[in-house]
Amino acid sequence: MENTFGEKKLHIQWFPGHMTKARRMMEANLKLVDVVVELLDARIPRSSANPMLQQLIGSKQKIVVLNKTDMADPDQTRAWLTWLKKKNFTALEVDCQKGRGVKALVTAIQKAGEPTLEKWRKKGVRNRSIRVMIVGIPNVGKSTLINRLLGRNKTVTQNKPGVTRGPQWVILGKGLELLDTPGVLWPKFDNPETGFCLAVTGAIREEVFDQEIAVHILVQRLMKRYPQELCANYKIELTTEDTVETVEKKIALSRGWLQAGGVADKNKTIQMVLRDFKSGKLGAFTLETAPKTGGEQ
Ligand code: G4P
Repeated sequence: MENTFGEKKLHIQWFPGHMTKARRMMEANLKLVDVVVELLDARIPRSSANPMLQQLIGSKQKIVVLNKTDMADPDQTRAWLTWLKKKNFTALEVDCQKGRGVKALVTAIQKAGEPTLEKWRKKGVRNRSIRVMIVGIPNVGKSTLINRLLGRNKTVTQNKPGVTRGPQWVILGKGLELLDTPGVLWPKFDNPETGFCLAVTGAIREEVFDQEIAVHILVQRLMKRYPQELCANYKIELTTEDTVETVEKKIALSRGWLQAGGVADKNKTIQMVLRDFKSGKLGAFTLETAPKTGGEQ
């Protein structure tokens, strides 16, 4: 099946049933916090966001954080941040794996929590901490961020023996408390494009989509947007005559992956391209271009 750009469409065969429980838990926990940190994948800022979140958090303070920036196109990360700020979001970028940007996030959380603290101070409450929660789709880096934020000084503040384990708050220091369980946002599957973005970045399991189609679309996009990186990585050359099929064949041949009869091993190539893209080995690419001005996320 092809779309208007002559691309194939990727359909996700998955109903995320287990997300219902995660969603209920997240909704309950959201009521307890002052500041929400929404973690997005910098490679797919549109597809990794869930518009329902805004509805759920109402007027609470929200910080939008682009993660995995080490694997995203830096120009696009800048463009997305500019657009988000234009839309009046507090937005910043991090690389949770290396810890880059995490200090700036702590400062942003403190700033976002200030109005709440001021409200409490007016009521005579002086030692109240800002309560924070991290939310995001599966695999976006929530646990990695929590570990980064906690460093080695992880302290459980409410752990009464004999009481059923409720939400656990960990002290981040500097008047901040973090909910130790992140909120899992259910991914959207509203169109094949979103499904494709979620699939190739690792937000959904490989068993629920057709890897051959996903890699076909991916190679097509990379040929258009990042041809030099594609060629350099796989030691191939592109001509104007090339199609996805011929490029996949060139990649297989450059690896020496030939099956009986001299046929290129397509399966092995597909697996490798998907793995290389997911891990960032193929290069720092962003699949969704930031809107220039206006437009909704
Ligand atoms: P989650 O709680 O939101 O589900 O995500 P988690 O922290 O478990 O992170 C998912 C994967 O993403 C982990 O890889 C983690 O190391 C990686 N990750 C998180 N933040 C960053 C980042 O800023 N840059 C890069 N490059 N990777 C990041 P993993 O342990 O290898 O898991 P997996 O890939 O095998 O699922």
